[in-house]
Amino acid sequence: MEDKFAKGLENVIALESGISFIDGEKGILEYRGFDIAELSKLSYDQVSYMLIMGKMPGEEELEEFSDNLKELRKITDSAFKVMRFCNYNIEAMDALRTTISYMSHCDPDLNDNSPEANLRKGMKMIARFPTVVASFSRVKNGLEEIEPDPELSHGANFLYMLRGKRPTDLESRILETDFILSADHELNPSTFTARTITSTLSDIHSSVIGGLCALKGPLHGGARMEVMEMVDEIGTVDEVEAFVMGKVQNHEKLMGFGHRVYKTYDPRAKVYKKLAKQIAEERNDMLWFDIAERIETIAYREFVQNKDKPIYPNVDFYSGIVYKYLDIPPKLATAVFAIGRISGWIAHCLEQYSDNRLIRPRAKFIRSKL
Ligand SMILES: CC(C)(COP(=O)(O)OP(=O)(O)OC[C@H]1O[C@@H](n2cnc3c(N)ncnc32)[C@H](O)[C@@H]1OP(=O)(O)O)[C@@H](O)C(=O)NCCC(=O)NCCS
Repeated sequence: MEDKFAKGLENVIALESGISFIDGEKGILEYRGFDIAELSKLSYDQVSYMLIMGKMPGEEELEEFSDNLKELRKITDSAFKVMRFCNYNIEAMDALRTTISYMSHCDPDLNDNSPEANLRKGMKMIARFPTVVASFSRVKNGLEEIEPDPELSHGANFLYMLRGKRPTDLESRILETDFILSADHELNPSTFTARTITSTLSDIHSSVIGGLCALKGPLHGGARMEVMEMVDEIGTVDEVEAFVMGKVQNHEKLMGFGHRVYKTYDPRAKVYKKLAKQIAEERNDMLWFDIAERIETIAYREFVQNKDKPIYPNVDFYSGIVYKYLDIPPKLATAVFAIGRISGWIAHCLEQYSDNRLIRPRAKFIRSKL
């Protein structure tokens, strides 16, 4: 047993899956055999269908799937009340967790673990995450909630509910791409948590809530918020060198850099970098992009060239910059990430239920540990 010990389960193959493929050396990510850069041009509904159903939808299948999601976007008055109650002293991820938990109590399928019921529950969560997050943000800022607009795409509708006005085509496209890039990533900590809960044959809401709790941490999805705050703290391109060198000298982690699996540039970060540049140019305001690019240059010099460590920008680095240009507040960033990731969690839970074995690893006992 001792031979098999890997701290943090590094490189441990815990299960078989047909959803995501990662080559960490070459920087490749595929969902069900499709390259992430190609998928990023599709709609979130299309990619969600493909993740969950295991195949690309035909025209009619996609239309039915999208219509279904649009019809499910509204949340009940009682769920709104719970979400408003959350407003006083917690942030979006906690509000999302609590509201989804409340919504599960009202779901007639709560204790039905059949594939049909799980799909129905999953669709509701995909459709309603954006409504909960946008409404929470508005209430927190003393504004009225805005009803979902069924004419808008998943991404555009979220921005509309968040800001109260329709986004530009570029903003809608960028958020749609963001949701796609965030949708799945093999056995990342939140997906592994969700699958572990599913493996006990608990209900799918519990699995998703577990996923949310794991995503929140700063070593996982919480890093996106930290990147946004870091860029604000730095403030100007001239301050970047001193800031990064401070981190290096104090052996502190640089947020949005490094990855357990990628030993090269994260393929999602490449797409995000292009999006960040595009929206910076459209807004005629390069400041945040320039700061980010300078951080990347210095990090490359310090980590890759000087120390030969494979520490490159990860998914949370340029996505944080994109969110800044979309006027998404830092404290909302992880919850917006969750809006994209929910499709992946649902796909993984369904896959786990369909061929289940309890996930139960072992610990190496160290008598003097405490
Ligand atoms: C993602 C992350 C948790 C992966 O962790 P991991 O696989 O356990 O790797 P470790 O934390 O053991 O790091 C390995 C080495 O690289 C260094 N390293 C890793 N990420 C680093 C970062 N962001 N900044 C500076 N150094 C970093 C560690 O200090 C360690 O150095 P050492 O061997 O000299 O002690 C880690 O890279 C990290 O904390 N990144 C910042 C948070 C982040 O952006 N998270 C989002 C992930 S998508």
